[in-house]
Amino acid sequence: MNDNLHQLRCFGCGERISGSEARPDFRCAKCGDLFEVEYPGWNQRKGPDRPNPGALKWLWRERRCSSEALDQSGVWRFRELLPILDSFGNAVTLREGDTPLYALTRTAKALGIDQLFAKHQGMNPTGSFKDTGMTAALSVAKERGFSWVACASTGNTSAAMAAYAARAGLRSLVLIPEGKIAWGKLSQAMDYGAVTCQLKTDFDGCVKVLTEIVREAPIYLLNSVNPYRLEGQKTPAFEIAEALDWTVPDHLIVPGGNLANSSALGKGFREMRELGLVSRVPRISVIQAEGANPLVRSFAKCQGRELEPVEAHTRASAIRIGNPASWRKAARVIQESGGWCLDVTEAEIAIAKAELGAEGLGCEPASAVTLAGLKKLRAEGKVNGTETVVLVLTGHTLKDADYTIDFHRGTLLKEQEAAGHEAKIDSLRRNAVVVDANPAAVLAAMRGDVG
Ligand code: F0G
Repeated sequence: MNDNLHQLRCFGCGERISGSEARPDFRCAKCGDLFEVEYPGWNQRKGPDRPNPGALKWLWRERRCSSEALDQSGVWRFRELLPILDSFGNAVTLREGDTPLYALTRTAKALGIDQLFAKHQGMNPTGSFKDTGMTAALSVAKERGFSWVACASTGNTSAAMAAYAARAGLRSLVLIPEGKIAWGKLSQAMDYGAVTCQLKTDFDGCVKVLTEIVREAPIYLLNSVNPYRLEGQKTPAFEIAEALDWTVPDHLIVPGGNLANSSALGKGFREMRELGLVSRVPRISVIQAEGANPLVRSFAKCQGRELEPVEAHTRASAIRIGNPASWRKAARVIQESGGWCLDVTEAEIAIAKAELGAEGLGCEPASAVTLAGLKKLRAEGKVNGTETVVLVLTGHTLKDADYTIDFHRGTLLKEQEAAGHEAKIDSLRRNAVVVDANPAAVLAAMRGDVG
């Protein structure tokens, strides 16, 4: 690990430690808060030593044509901005990142917005944005000589961790809440050889158990309290800016669960501005599900100063989190960028997901909260039609096929959840029909005469 180039700074009390001094639970010994990676050299460098933005932009683009594994990773392609390893030769990569930024033309038209994009992080190797963070933190685990890594997860972190651990030849331990994660994600952890324990509790309960385990056993914790995860997860900010020719969008909209991703993307944009790669940062808004909305409540009650955990309920199982670890970091990103924190209902999530599907961009329900949130922000006049807006879609649609099938069959939502949205839902549902095996029957189905 490169202790010369980076250090860890406590988000709560400002205490600075070297990377190798971090405790197994990554909590500050003085105040219990989380750490953030910082690079002191960036501040000291004046004049010729300061990273040259023009040269970096050129280098990063050139690497897209390279056949080197590190250059083909959309995380390590930007390695000058995450010098966390002693040797980049220790990086464990599945060629993550470099995900597409799709224009959402039909949705933009429907909402009266000129420029609307989806940054589809579900197009990563294991199907979620977690890969970008996992390549960074798991590489640190490998460099530090750990043979076991572990996480508590709502499914995607565990899928990513298990895959990267398998690539690195490390063992992995997954704690997931029993019956509360999507099958696609569980199957990935099994396939990649993790020791997978389904605990009779929720995600927050799994975190508690794992925190105790890592204090006692030499297991490297890969939940997003690990600050190196966020170093990887900040890189989509660089990709978005690069794709927009080094301008930044006016507004970035991110789902909120454990609240690390919004924190990481905020850090990415902030660092780009500090280094002179871009001239400003976007507004960053965080959207939670109504039944798992502790940060929304916190903003309503006290402007994000305190957070009371809630018991979380939502079918968007990836963000079924009541006691988010990184809430302070996310609150700062929202406040500093002038963004908002709001929640959306189960029906709004399901409708938004189907609308994204109808644009040819499936995603998992937790990702669709971004579009549902944008619709609310637009209706409230908080987004105007001339702004450039980017939705961060965090997971692939195949992660949770049951949700999609239930929606199209009409069995997803309870009557009272769907109330007021029936017509919209009916217009989006495309149930699979069973027809006789002859052309006339199929042609009738195409005309909508069956079903
Ligand atoms: N979207 C998806 C698809 C997720 O899997 C998660 C988090 C989030 C959004 C929220 O991101 O936690 O950084 O605010 N999934 C975690 C997991 C908690 O264990 O896979 P966050």
